[in-house]
Amino acid sequence: MAFVSGAGRSCWNPSAMSGCVAVFLILTISSWFGSTRAEVCSAFLDRQTGKLTLANGFRPDFVAWANFTDEIKQTGWSYLEVTTSGRYNDSLQAYAAGAVEAAVTSQLLYEHWMNTMVGYCGPFKYESGYCKRLKDYIIRNLQWMEQQMEQADDPEYWHQIRLALLQLRGLEDSYNDQVAFPSGQFSVNPFGFLLFQMGGDLEDLEAALNKSSLSRTLGSGSCSALIKLLPGNKELLVSHVTWNNYQSMLRIMKKYSFAFRKSPQAEDPIPGGTQAFSSYPGSIFSGDDFYILSSGLVAMETTIGNSNPALWKYVTPEGAVMEWLRNMVANRLARNGSHWAAVFSKFNSGTYNNQWMIVDYSRFTPGKTDEENLLTVLEQIPGLIVTEDKTKELLQKSYWASYNIPYFEKVFNASGCPALVQKYGDWFSFDKNPRAQIFQRNHSLVVDMDSMIRLMRYNNFEEDPLSRCQACDPPSNGENAISARSDLNPANGTYPFGALRQRPHGSTDMKVTSYAMFRDYKLLAASGPTWDQVPAFQWSKSPYSGLLHMGHPDLWAFPTVPVGWS
Ligand SMILES: *[C@@H]1O[C@H](CO)[C@@H](O)[C@H](O)[C@H]1NC(C)=O
Ligand SMILES: *[C@@H]1O[C@H](CO)[C@@H](O)[C@H](O)[C@H]1NC(C)=O
Ligand SMILES: *[C@@H]1O[C@H](CO)[C@@H](O)[C@H](O)[C@H]1NC(C)=O
Ligand SMILES: *[C@@H]1O[C@H](CO)[C@@H](O)[C@H](O)[C@H]1NC(C)=O
Ligand SMILES: *[C@@H]1O[C@H](CO)[C@@H](O)[C@H](O)[C@H]1NC(C)=O
Ligand SMILES: *[C@@H]1O[C@H](CO)[C@@H](O)[C@H](O)[C@H]1NC(C)=O
Ligand SMILES: *[C@@H]1O[C@H](CO)[C@@H](O)[C@H](O)[C@H]1NC(C)=O
Repeated sequence: MAFVSGAGRSCWNPSAMSGCVAVFLILTISSWFGSTRAEVCSAFLDRQTGKLTLANGFRPDFVAWANFTDEIKQTGWSYLEVTTSGRYNDSLQAYAAGAVEAAVTSQLLYEHWMNTMVGYCGPFKYESGYCKRLKDYIIRNLQWMEQQMEQADDPEYWHQIRLALLQLRGLEDSYNDQVAFPSGQFSVNPFGFLLFQMGGDLEDLEAALNKSSLSRTLGSGSCSALIKLLPGNKELLVSHVTWNNYQSMLRIMKKYSFAFRKSPQAEDPIPGGTQAFSSYPGSIFSGDDFYILSSGLVAMETTIGNSNPALWKYVTPEGAVMEWLRNMVANRLARNGSHWAAVFSKFNSGTYNNQWMIVDYSRFTPGKTDEENLLTVLEQIPGLIVTEDKTKELLQKSYWASYNIPYFEKVFNASGCPALVQKYGDWFSFDKNPRAQIFQRNHSLVVDMDSMIRLMRYNNFEEDPLSRCQACDPPSNGENAISARSDLNPANGTYPFGALRQRPHGSTDMKVTSYAMFRDYKLLAASGPTWDQVPAFQWSKSPYSGLLHMGHPDLWAFPTVPVGWS
């Protein structure tokens, strides 16, 4: 693929030093001297040619503009704001948003692709049977969605799908220095930047499409989340910790302010036009997932997966919309938690199977709070989605914890969890899982923001009895904590299943917002594996120094920082 090789990009070609591409070169030079100034790029319609054009700096006639600040060496985060103008139609805005984002983040995009995606169904592939089935699935799925967009049933829904795909197309075109707004039909490269969006969907597609070596390790956790009412209901804190492969740690905290309408004909803006979320280079959604939305909703999830092979028959390319897209559409269109669930539940792909938690801050008042509609919980597996209002349970227990095990018994049973409990024990159960017990024991120690952050970053696996695994040698296990550190498990230990082994995997961040902060899209965030009670992760001193980690800091010892916006 053309974009895989940096050498083909015109930013290396002095004769093509125009538009925002030149900014990239300047940034490269300035980053050699350690400065972190912002990069700004605008997309506008050229008066003479009528064509969408990119230029360095802010222009008042922007269709979209981006402001990017790279502080990865200082805080582990870079920051991106993309704003579009309602003077132009939604399609042009969406494409331009993708284009300006790629222009200011192209260096990180290249590095992140190399670190995480370059070999995936790439030129030297050895899973050629699976890759062919995957490509076929993606193409048929894109074709089916194209038909739905043309049929114009449910125009609001399909308008947002189209905008998401146009944004992706703009991102890829701009990266390849081929910005040209497609006014009619357009295609999306099946193995291009679409793969960046499909990270979660792929985990399940690999199993559904019979890949022989799966990326997902048995029992491998993917995220911890906690919603906590402080004593006297005076605050409601919402926090998420990503668990991921350490090669994924090039991070961008994003804020999108898009002036999209509910349909091409409508005047009224979508409820979720402005969103702040933790993200990655080349990802136009969160992926973690953690979102603060202008609708007043905060949405997040932890992955529950599916361990029942009989359900893979529900994963089909027709009648399904991949999870990343359903997530984006629900974030944009939903006014409240049950509405979010209704939009998200359409066209269940059965991929990226998660427990979603939707907190509606408009239902929260410090000191007192509504009895319903404050917390909606949704669980998806192939062929089944269960949603319930869980406000009462949140009020009774003062917390809701999420740790990769289905809450709804129907989902737990259908997705094959009982067999895992039978085979491996309580670790796979909803109540006795190590994190279930740690949250239960420790949540009452959370009385303010600092204690919340301490719990989310907590990993004292050498000392904490709840981190022990009886069937393991040694018994203390770095996976069994709110912020996992599987790299700290000895390579020569014995472990009953894959998740408990030594792996380059664990907590890679922490995000938290509150009633006081969400309205300004503010949050507190830490980047990199936890190092509160354990040594900080350092590539050069780890067993994983040989894994590609282009653009990463060597030592991941960053504090929690406030995230605000200009
Ligand atoms: C949006 O605006 C662009 C540029 O003016 C135009 O080419 C396009 O046809 C318009 N409508 C849609 C739906 O793309
Ligand atoms: C995967 O393997 C199962 C069991 O052999 C088979 O039933 C199913 O059709 C296969 N799926 C695909 C997409 O090849
Ligand atoms: C949620 O939003 C939907 C769509 O606007 C609306 O029909 C429904 O009444 C709302 N529900 C609540 C509980 O406000
Ligand atoms: C789940 O399975 C357990 C054990 O077989 C059974 O007791 C329970 O009724 C099932 N729950 C549901 C909702 O199917
Ligand atoms: C969690 O509880 C244990 C046992 O009481 C305690 O030692 C530890 O400090 C607590 N950690 C946090 C972050 O609350
Ligand atoms: C694993 O290796 C360490 C040293 O690297 C050694 O001290 C320990 O005894 C070994 N454990 C086992 C179970 O072999
Ligand atoms: C871009 O963002 C930085 C960091 O938030 C801010 O200091 C700067 O003013 C912004 N630039 C513009 C043009 O708004």
